[in-house]
Amino acid sequence: MNEPKTTCASPELSDQIPPHPAGLDYIFRNWGVLNREQRIRLTEQVAEIDFDRIRALHQATDGPTSEVADLGKASAPGRLIPRDIRRDNPGEFATAREIGWQALREGRVAIILVAGGEGSRLGFPHPKGQFPIGPVSGKSLYQMLVEQALAMSRRSGKVIPYYVMTSDSTHEETMAFFRVHSFFGYDAANLHFFSQGKMPAVDQRTGNVIMSAHDRIAFAPDGHGGLLNAMRTARLFDDLRSRNIETIFYHQVDNPLVRVCDPAFLGFHQIHRAEVSTKVVSKEEPDEKVGLLVEMEDRHRIIEYSDLPADLAAQRDASGQLKLRCGNIAVHLFNVDFLERMAEQDLPFHRSSKSVAFVNDSGEVVQSTENNAFKFEKFIFDILPHAQRPVAMEVVREHEFVPLKNSHGDHSPDHVRQSLMRLHTRWMQQAGWTTEESLPVEIPASVALDETDFIAHCGQTSRSNPPPAE
Ligand code: UD1
Repeated sequence: MNEPKTTCASPELSDQIPPHPAGLDYIFRNWGVLNREQRIRLTEQVAEIDFDRIRALHQATDGPTSEVADLGKASAPGRLIPRDIRRDNPGEFATAREIGWQALREGRVAIILVAGGEGSRLGFPHPKGQFPIGPVSGKSLYQMLVEQALAMSRRSGKVIPYYVMTSDSTHEETMAFFRVHSFFGYDAANLHFFSQGKMPAVDQRTGNVIMSAHDRIAFAPDGHGGLLNAMRTARLFDDLRSRNIETIFYHQVDNPLVRVCDPAFLGFHQIHRAEVSTKVVSKEEPDEKVGLLVEMEDRHRIIEYSDLPADLAAQRDASGQLKLRCGNIAVHLFNVDFLERMAEQDLPFHRSSKSVAFVNDSGEVVQSTENNAFKFEKFIFDILPHAQRPVAMEVVREHEFVPLKNSHGDHSPDHVRQSLMRLHTRWMQQAGWTTEESLPVEIPASVALDETDFIAHCGQTSRSNPPPAE
């Protein structure tokens, strides 16, 4: 949490409840049955919380989006690199690509992966990055992402520092997983793990923090917007400066199709001197759970799907397409200077309604059947309206966006694996290979990064050209 204001006496081990701010007696009501270690834990947890802020957040009636934005004024972003630019303007595309490769060759790019989420919708009892998603290889999401970074690093001939943000919910397991797998071949000196902050869950009715055990407060990660504070705490800006990094490629842990450090994206970002760039896909259905990138008063802004009024989501233009359709795939480029400037500010918290387990007076843990709690999260995309010259780039959904979110149906493991196989089968067909649609196919990043790359290295006419050496 940011700068906790509440102070509690140092761990008190007697049966006497330690001095604490008014209104917090409920937290200590089982003090008498706690042992020494439990008393220390509880006292430390209380000291971490800014209760004044929690009270204010509980009482706030509006989320930050509706506070600051008049959504009716939202329009599609103006500076939008069109989806078919490669086909329609190959010269411009090639120039951007070359500029991006140059930035990579000069070692001016680093990667941030946000992997601190609890991934509760997936129902996987480990950090989501560990989920085995490779349709043939069974590789984890972590491995597929790191292998792309490795491939880009090998091709550019320069190290790409990789920073992975974890949380209390994912840190220990993630570290152990990377160690067991020898960091998937990434140079450990260039792979940096750092943990984000946390926020207590709060009872919707009373505003009290929720106790998950007599000696434990129910905490959750503070949202990927916690990144800025976590970077400052871990002194990452110093590290980035010492490596002469100018641009950060930011992505989420759930999308194995992401094009890590896409050179064309990097190139357009640089050509436009953007402080932030965002990749989008065309949103087809009003109720799809993607945030929307919009422009308001010359600034880019992402409206989260949960904040988007249904009537606005459903508006269509004369061609029948959704009026606001730039779906956020959570792939950004951030200038380091800009991020550092933003790290001086406090991002707003978004409040969401959740079901959170609590301990009852008999010490039993009860899972509420309804949404009994508020959780508070910061969103990294709330920095977008502060960015100068923002750029958006539309990409083909089937080529770059199939996130793993749910245990069943859309965005389930099955859906993601099928999408990966379909894409890689297509690469093979475009390269002149005959394939059985039903046979499982998976092309590792070490062989090809996209269709053009695959055709160049593995096409029937370039069979003498082996894939790039590993
Ligand atoms: C997110 C975006 C949504 C976008 C969609 C694309 C938000 C609020 N919304 O939705 O606009 O269209 O992805 O897939 O992000 N994470 C942390 N720490 C946290 C919380 C989350 O690192 O405290 C990470 C997760 O590990 C994950 C990513 O952030 O990598 C996204 O989190 P998730 O909650 O799954 O976002 P969505 O609701 O799917």
